[in-house]
Amino acid sequence: MSLIKKIQLFTTAILLIVVIASCKKEPVNNNNNNTVGDDTVVMTPYEFVLPTHFPAITIPEDNKLYVERIELGKQLFFDTRLSNDGKSCASCHKQEYGFSVPEPQHGFDKGHTSLPMINLAWYKNFMWNGRLTGTLEDVMMTELTVRFNTDLVKINNISEYRVMFKNFYRVDEIKYEDMAKALAQYMRVLVSRDTKYDRYVKGQAVLTPMEEEGRRIFFSEKGDCFHCHTNLLATDNLMHNNGLDSVYNKDIDLGYFNVTGNPNDKGKFRTPNLRNVALRTHYMHDGRFTSLEQVVDFYNTGVNKVPSVDPLMTKDNRDDVFGLGLNEVEKKQLVAFLKTFTDSTMITDKAFAAP
Ligand code: HEC
Ligand code: HEC
Repeated sequence: MSLIKKIQLFTTAILLIVVIASCKKEPVNNNNNNTVGDDTVVMTPYEFVLPTHFPAITIPEDNKLYVERIELGKQLFFDTRLSNDGKSCASCHKQEYGFSVPEPQHGFDKGHTSLPMINLAWYKNFMWNGRLTGTLEDVMMTELTVRFNTDLVKINNISEYRVMFKNFYRVDEIKYEDMAKALAQYMRVLVSRDTKYDRYVKGQAVLTPMEEEGRRIFFSEKGDCFHCHTNLLATDNLMHNNGLDSVYNKDIDLGYFNVTGNPNDKGKFRTPNLRNVALRTHYMHDGRFTSLEQVVDFYNTGVNKVPSVDPLMTKDNRDDVFGLGLNEVEKKQLVAFLKTFTDSTMITDKAFAAP
């Protein structure tokens, strides 16, 4: 090869590298605040890979996903300086429990159990009783202002955050909105896509006979679980009364009624996501059950026929029993299937772990 040819090849290679690199990095230009910031700072767009069979998600135009912003959100999530009592978000949302936490004796927030953080990018309703709606950015605003009452002077005095917010959001002074945006980035990428059940659906794993029978119960009229705990996303994200209470002893047991004031909404809760459900130590909004066996027993024989109970819970064939009529073996099969929703990949993924 002649020297000229070699030089030509070399320059083409360099050009290619430059083109590829410039495709990957983008200047920070899609934010609300155009007054400050360094135009030369570039960030790496984050490619949100939609899990197979999942519907598309909406990402707010003014908070596009970038690797650097996600890192910033993650750093905030694990930082105890956000609160005034030494807690970080991670104190109540731990990765090893699917971003939930074993419950303290009396729960949090008037006795609610902590909620796991799984596939929040698809949610429209948030919290057990659906009292928050909107984007993840909106939910983060509430966590910062109501739960933590974050001291903005303290945050603005941390030079590392000043630099990061300036570089990634082009703001000189950090406000709640900016922190909410960064936290929402991290929340949005906490995706569970690799449970045994996901692999089964993709033809990459085989269920044991127990799990397979459990799957049939879950997805047939026999168990009827799938109508609310919908396939793959594992929740319809809507409000239902699953017949847990005949009288509402505690204020929080009223659920969605506390949001709407409508008597038809008494005892309604947002269907929880069943991904990583076996990692939880307490079940239902107030953590009244401590094992999956107890949950299945409830659906089998404990359903209360109250006025606002979901019609699914008292279908014709159930009117006299108020339950499913599963035998001991079938109950075990259903529990075995619920365990296939555990996502070991997500709970050990270093990308999500403390910085
Ligand atoms: C003291 C414990 C505690 C701390 C600290 C905490 N949370 Fe929570 N979190 C909860 C509880 C409890 C709920 C459920 C509350 C309810 O439904 O009323 C919840 C709910 C949520 C939800 C809604 C999930 C869903 O499925 O709707 C998100 C998102 C969330 N927290 C994020 C955060 C972030 C981000 C932080 C830090 C800024 C944080 N949390 C700090 C206990 C905590
Ligand atoms: C009518 C809708 C509906 C049906 C049908 C239904 N669920 Fe639920 N499920 C809910 C709601 C709503 C909650 C939360 C109730 C609460 O906290 O008060 C819940 C809670 C749970 C929980 C506790 C999750 C947690 O994180 O605490 C498990 C486990 C569960 N359901 C499994 C099942 C199984 C198994 C079936 C089928 C036998 C089933 N569900 C049928 C709506 C439903």
